[in-house]
Amino acid sequence: MAELPGKALAEELAAASRDESRTTPIEDVIAAARSPGLDDDAVHRLVSRLWVLERMFYYVYGGWGQGLEINDFPASIKYLFSKQIVDESTHEMLYLDTLLRRGCVKTQKEAFQHPYGGFSVDSGVAYYVFSLRNLATYPHPIRIAALNLGPKIVELAWMEALAAVIADPALKQVFASQAVENRSHIAMGRRIVEEFVERPVDQELCRWACAIARQDYRRFLHETGDFVLRRETPPPPVARVRVTD
Ligand SMILES: [Fe+2]
Repeated sequence: MAELPGKALAEELAAASRDESRTTPIEDVIAAARSPGLDDDAVHRLVSRLWVLERMFYYVYGGWGQGLEINDFPASIKYLFSKQIVDESTHEMLYLDTLLRRGCVKTQKEAFQHPYGGFSVDSGVAYYVFSLRNLATYPHPIRIAALNLGPKIVELAWMEALAAVIADPALKQVFASQAVENRSHIAMGRRIVEEFVERPVDQELCRWACAIARQDYRRFLHETGDFVLRRETPPPPVARVRVTD
């Protein structure tokens, strides 16, 4: 079989993400979970923030899905993406179920109203979500390269490490159960990049988009870690610019 055109690029993006994966600010949460352990309210804060991000994926993928109709992509790409939407939706429900089962909230409605579960436009989670949503204007393989070979690789690593140090069996399973999903998303990202990212201009776009996604995900993890550990997140070290697109 002939060499797939994007094979080297897929490996390059994945390697860069693996290098970064155990260096993010969520390591402080993993350390705290190991010792002294996270109290109930810290778990509530952590699961709530992760839930906010997961539920925003409906918004991100909604925009990406519309873009899939613009270009003529093979059915395999659409199938893999629809599977990813379903996975992310069950992931969102998993976090909500966790909040309900642990008694953090009594109803789904209460989860939305609780201050821990609110979405604020001026936040790291919003920054990351809008950044991903903005990729709707790029061809599908580029945004899949950015997310599935970027933050997904970082997520797989920290989530496995967190699951390993959590003592509570049910909570451990919440995080451990996502490894299969993450691995499959990473594998499909690799597959799409290998097969469909060929031209140098698209390869450059993938590098750019993947680096941006990782950087913005890192900011989300920083904010989440600080929220869980009750620390103050410093403002991002970038100049504020007006976005006009
Ligand atoms: Fe997920």
